[in-house]
Amino acid sequence: MTQFRNKQWIYTKRPEKVVNQSHYTLEENVISISEVKPGKALLKSVYFSIDPYMRIQQSKHNTWEEPHPLDTVQGGAVVAQIVAINDNSSSLKKGDWVLSYTGWQEYAITEISNLRLLDPTKISVTTALGVLGMPARIAYFGLLEAGLPKEGETVVVSGASGAVGQIVAQIAQIKGCKVIGIAGSDEKTKFLKEIIGVSEVINYKKHSSAKEMYQELKRISPEGIDIYYDNVGGYITDAVFEHININARIIICGQISQYSGGLDTPEMGPRFLHKILYKRATIQGVLARDYNQRMDELLSEMTPWVQDGLIKYKETIIKGFDQLPEALNMLFFGKNMGKLIVKI
Ligand SMILES: NC(=O)c1ccc[n+]([C@@H]2O[C@H](COP(=O)([O-])OP(=O)(O)OC[C@H]3O[C@@H](n4cnc5c(N)ncnc54)[C@H](OP(=O)(O)O)[C@@H]3O)[C@@H](O)[C@H]2O)c1
Repeated sequence: MTQFRNKQWIYTKRPEKVVNQSHYTLEENVISISEVKPGKALLKSVYFSIDPYMRIQQSKHNTWEEPHPLDTVQGGAVVAQIVAINDNSSSLKKGDWVLSYTGWQEYAITEISNLRLLDPTKISVTTALGVLGMPARIAYFGLLEAGLPKEGETVVVSGASGAVGQIVAQIAQIKGCKVIGIAGSDEKTKFLKEIIGVSEVINYKKHSSAKEMYQELKRISPEGIDIYYDNVGGYITDAVFEHININARIIICGQISQYSGGLDTPEMGPRFLHKILYKRATIQGVLARDYNQRMDELLSEMTPWVQDGLIKYKETIIKGFDQLPEALNMLFFGKNMGKLIVKI
């Protein structure tokens, strides 16, 4: 009976601050084709998605769900190939590329019904983790349905060179908006300006307080801000609140500046909610999972945009299964540009 040596990263310790390798244990076991029961498939993982929500789920408090259980395989999206399948009527077959949610393990057995078939002859399979995956889903529906962008409006995107931010910036531009991209290095702002084509950029590390950031926002967008797509929170968000227009829409997609400690002990920033009152603005949180059922709609709209180069994207691909925990840590130090992926 064919067997495979399998490695798994087990999440074993809850981080208080930044997550790193010390919160994981590498374990080995053996997985056998005989374990593939009817309706299931054995997958060989190839590309792992590295996402900030992994750290959110390590908070000791409930979020949109209970915390990630300790002593289990770190969950996460994976692009994999089918090694064996136990269902003669399935349209899937051995060798097919699929998107699964089987986490940080080299091999995994899962329900066939959980898999999404990918076609590597049409577009790189890694796009299923980024520009045509979950980050795209929240970028697209979050901006269009909570932000309601109109031609000529000014949109500020924080975390703009990341997996979500780079897509938000480009969809806003497709809708005729002026985009200001905020990111954490000159390399990232150059990418935003020269490749993504945003109108204005800010390297927030050169404006390290809410006051300085507000001055810079006022300088480059004297017309004010109509939509703020927030990926980071903290003082950048405080500064944006100071400069919003009447009927501004603030979309809370993420608060990464708060994840490494602030989820359990919130940082108290300035309380600028009175600005929301004066400007009759709205603040809405958005979650990718609320749009899971609308993936077909997303793909039919965005796949041609990506194939035709209307939407460009960057990926940072780290090699080595052993690198997974350190790759997660990289997100919190801005070491990725675009979607962060680990390849076996
Ligand atoms: N609501 C949802 O369903 C949903 C779905 C996906 C993602 N998100 C959220 O969207 C945000 C972006 O996610 P992503 O997958 O696209 O990650 P990403 O932007 O590709 O990577 C994270 C980036 O965050 C920035 N960052 C890290 N610490 C920061 C800090 N203290 N202050 C400001 N920026 C910081 C870094 O870029 P710099 O070099 O620019 O600092 C880093 O590269 C996250 O907050 C995430 O939780 C939400």
